[in-house]
Amino acid sequence: MNEYKDIINIYDVNINEEKDYERLIKFFGVKEIDDVILNNLKYLAGDLHVLLRRKFFYAHRDFDLLLNKYNEGKRFFLYTGRAPSKSKMHIGHLIPFLLTKWFQEKFNVNVYIQIPDEEKYWEKKADNYEEIREYALEDAKTIASLGFDPDKTFIFIDSEYIKNMYKAAIYVAREINLNTAKSVFGFDDNSTIGLPFYIALQIVPTFFERNIPLIPCGIDQDPYFRLQRDIAEKFGYYKASTILSKFVWGLQGPYTKMSASDPKSAIFVDDDYDTIKYKVFKYAFSGGRSTLEEHRKYGGNPDIDVSYFWLSVLFEEDDYKLKEIRDKYIMGELTTGELKEYTTNKIWEFLSSVQERRKNINIDKFMYDGRLAREMQEWEFKP
Ligand code: TYM
Repeated sequence: MNEYKDIINIYDVNINEEKDYERLIKFFGVKEIDDVILNNLKYLAGDLHVLLRRKFFYAHRDFDLLLNKYNEGKRFFLYTGRAPSKSKMHIGHLIPFLLTKWFQEKFNVNVYIQIPDEEKYWEKKADNYEEIREYALEDAKTIASLGFDPDKTFIFIDSEYIKNMYKAAIYVAREINLNTAKSVFGFDDNSTIGLPFYIALQIVPTFFERNIPLIPCGIDQDPYFRLQRDIAEKFGYYKASTILSKFVWGLQGPYTKMSASDPKSAIFVDDDYDTIKYKVFKYAFSGGRSTLEEHRKYGGNPDIDVSYFWLSVLFEEDDYKLKEIRDKYIMGELTTGELKEYTTNKIWEFLSSVQERRKNINIDKFMYDGRLAREMQEWEFKP
């Protein structure tokens, strides 16, 4: 494997082993999030989000620099996004938003959330654009329900907000030639002509403020911001800082994908208790032994177990409890059924509160009427 596009390209993420994450660090030229950075962040924030503590966010660009500048009085803002397709968001999609929300809470900063309704359509991951527009609004509601501050958060759908963005896109698109776009994203002759242009649209929100943009996202999104960093200063804006996560495994086992189109692979944000339980019990790959007797005798393997993985990434925040589960599973004291039951309840505890908040969400506040949303109706790119 000599090219990162074997692991990640615009269309696909193909992580097969933990080593691929290290390879991506090298290929992309990003840095690992080390304990020095985490200690500095903890000092400023008071604590660390579980996704940072467990190093699920594992790589970054200039995040150390951002913290230094923050100490000198420089401000930052948050930006991330979600491209709607023909299906609802799964729990993997929530990862960057959960960390973004944590940053907003700790640092009291503005958040910009892009919903590019053109992207997946141009990628041909969905055939019906009208349907995507509906999902765009559904996804906006789901994201808002994670608890963002309605006066400090602006959620925008590209096809609606394009009037404000277009001037910046004109400037950005001129700076990126097709050759670069191809080598960074792996476009080929069958790519639609929309996708290379879309790069400009994903870069534009990094110019929404004259402060430093901090972008929490999956590492697959880094290529956009690598290009942003080559051109930002030319326009008088800051280079983006990114903080990059690994990928949540699908139900089928280690390094499998959560596919939006395959319900057997993922837990969706709107799944109810019975559906979650059914999926976890029926499909979640287990590191347990085939019989209870063997399990008691030889113990299970948490490192290949999807339920344990999900607990360790996000759903069991208590480090001691997680260690206890791990030890007991290895000893055979905790059965696969018990582990699955525990995981189901943890996921449900989390999702039910999101679903409850979603019922009463006033999405207009985030898109049009909140303080930031109102301000952004006047935003203009000023190179
Ligand atoms: P999209 O909609 O494919 O994914 C949304 C975000 O979720 C991350 N992600 C995952 N993270 C952990 N585990 C998984 N299994 C998993 N699957 C997806 C993605 O990395 C992404 O951060 N082009 C973007 C939309 C976008 C955007 C942005 C993303 C627009 N502007 C700014 C980040 C920053 C997209 O297609 O994301």
